[in-house]
Amino acid sequence: MPQDANVGSRSVATFAKCFGSKELYEEAVENSLEAWRVGRDAQFFRAPCIVDSDPNRWLIEFELLDGWTEVLSLIRSWTLRGWPRAELVDLFHRIGYAVAEYHDATGKIHGDLYPANVLCRKDDHRVYLIDFSRPNPRLHSDGGAYNYGSIYTDLALFAIFVLVKYTPPQMPLAWRPVNRDLTREFLRGYFERAPGSYDPQDFDSEFSRLLREGGVLPRTFMSRFFGWTRIFRVDDLQP
Ligand SMILES: Nc1ncnc2c1ncn2[C@@H]1O[C@H](COP(=O)(O)OP(=O)(O)O)[C@@H](O)[C@H]1O
Ligand SMILES: [Mg+2]
Repeated sequence: MPQDANVGSRSVATFAKCFGSKELYEEAVENSLEAWRVGRDAQFFRAPCIVDSDPNRWLIEFELLDGWTEVLSLIRSWTLRGWPRAELVDLFHRIGYAVAEYHDATGKIHGDLYPANVLCRKDDHRVYLIDFSRPNPRLHSDGGAYNYGSIYTDLALFAIFVLVKYTPPQMPLAWRPVNRDLTREFLRGYFERAPGSYDPQDFDSEFSRLLREGGVLPRTFMSRFFGWTRIFRVDDLQP
């Protein structure tokens, strides 16, 4: 919820977020601070800074990203207003690039990379990733407790949401191929920036795994129902 905080003599608008436990709070502080620090040196990737934090109430106040919009709300409103497709494609390329910057600089995956956690603004090259409160498994195995993750989880999760979830009901079906183009561009941006050792082929298996395993995704996206359609085909998404 937006509110005001005093920093020195400055009053800045903030976005306050409360956490359910001390552990989650501490993890969010650490991951958010790291993301913000990394974002200062990145080309596209940014993360909001922490303005204040309260360890007793497990509360973090972030800078309010005023005017920044969740990426798929932007797509909806701009497509309805005839936003040029080339700009949308470029936006998705930058999102992919920004995610690779975050992965590369922190060695962590985001863990909850779906479009509500990606904020953009028209005519702005920056891409804000938010919500670093999920455990961030390390990319490279060192035997630690969190090493269950794969970078491809971030990519596959984002791709699934873009491909399926947000085709607005009022859009004609013709919009669906555009979602594929946007997803492909996201992956292209990612692999343009990611280290050469990351293999785009591994995206496919992670994509199928997320939809196959008994989690919330297969139900949310009716993958059984849509399984036979083009929506979940990934062979033409390779960058
Ligand atoms: N710093 C911020 N400035 C502006 N809006 C924000 C900010 N952080 C989050 N939001 C908005 O609030 C929503 C929820 O915040 P988020 O940190 O993702 O919490 P949750 O854990 O509930 O997903 C986001 O999807 C975004 O639209
Ligand atoms: Mg969120």
